[in-house]
Amino acid sequence: MGESIRFVSVQWRILAPIIIALLLYIPIIVSGSFFKPFNVSYDHRALIIAGKRRMLVSAGIHYPRATHQMWSDLIEKSKEGGADVIQTYVFWNGHEPVKGQVEEAVKHDENGNPVKRFRRRETLVHSESIAGRSFWNEHSSLHKDLGHFAQDIGKIDPDYVKSFQFENRLVPLTWVVVRIDGCHFHRFSEVHEFEKPNDEQALKLMNSCAVAVLEEFQDIVFAYGVSDEYSFVLSKESELYKRQSSKIVSAIVSFFTSTYVIRWEDFFPHKELKYPPSFDGRAVCYPTSEILLDYLAWRQVDCHINNQYNTCFWMLVKSGKSKTQAQDYLKGTQTREKNELLSQQFGIEYNSLPLVFRMGSSVFRLKFYI
Ligand code: GTP
Ligand code: MG
Repeated sequence: MGESIRFVSVQWRILAPIIIALLLYIPIIVSGSFFKPFNVSYDHRALIIAGKRRMLVSAGIHYPRATHQMWSDLIEKSKEGGADVIQTYVFWNGHEPVKGQVEEAVKHDENGNPVKRFRRRETLVHSESIAGRSFWNEHSSLHKDLGHFAQDIGKIDPDYVKSFQFENRLVPLTWVVVRIDGCHFHRFSEVHEFEKPNDEQALKLMNSCAVAVLEEFQDIVFAYGVSDEYSFVLSKESELYKRQSSKIVSAIVSFFTSTYVIRWEDFFPHKELKYPPSFDGRAVCYPTSEILLDYLAWRQVDCHINNQYNTCFWMLVKSGKSKTQAQDYLKGTQTREKNELLSQQFGIEYNSLPLVFRMGSSVFRLKFYI
């Protein structure tokens, strides 16, 4: 699941400088000797520009080492020196010095002072009437997003307003599965330095939250979890929140999330929770127990496939391969080949790894007499 996302972003990191280089090439072409439109293609040997094979000479410019007023001159000089293409890295550490906080100053004026980008900031106000003209006149920036009131609002008919609300009721007498999934847990696990590919403590925290959800919602009869996701199965007869989908999903997701935050310290006593995690959720109805079991089996197969791949991937990376090399190495390999790789190269018997990693976790209630 997450690995493919990781690879896409890595590829982008590599592609971004190339794309920027090509973009920079365009103005050079336009301001240089070519004015007519021409075709650009390539064959197995070279780029073909206007029907001719071309070898492009590329010059690297580190743009933060110069002020932006110097850039055009540097590009001109590179061209005079014989360069066709400018390549540059994106100095992301300069744009986002603190994770999640993108630097506002992206360029400087002629005196070297930073030019701030226009940004909107969250604002909290207390106003007597949010439906009155004066409120909208005072906060004209809202017009763009919300339109504006031409006149003050008279008497409001609550039924008319309520008539826009639709109840999304789940199909009666079906098993409802609420699947929750960590939002951007690829990043969350990086920031919190989770062990790769499986962090036992992180999984235990997820499991502990799932148990708490079952304690809180008695209609949930079974739960299955893997990685950053958990599926909660409500009994067929459940009338929780009159089977309103959005209420059920939001109540379970928010309870799970707040439990995750509260219990973080119990599982990571020496690791600060750096930012609030979030989970998304959806509810799906399954009309027969066969389909429900198919669903659960599908999640477990997914767990196995991902875990086996990730175990191989990270072993290859830890052994010195780059992520791209490891990805290429594993492309098209079947289960047996992956097990052989682990066993022969790394002395790991896949089937002896902990079940919680390979097969996920289930939570349900055992009946007993007291
Ligand atoms: P969205 O769910 O689409 O928001 O993206 P996501 O980043 O959460 O990815 P996804 O749910 O597809 O996959 C979960 C991701 O969480 C994995 O790919 C990992 O990157 C990360 N993750 C989950 N559990 C662990 C763990 O135990 N260790 C580590 N290192 N990472 C984990
Ligand atoms: Mg996720």
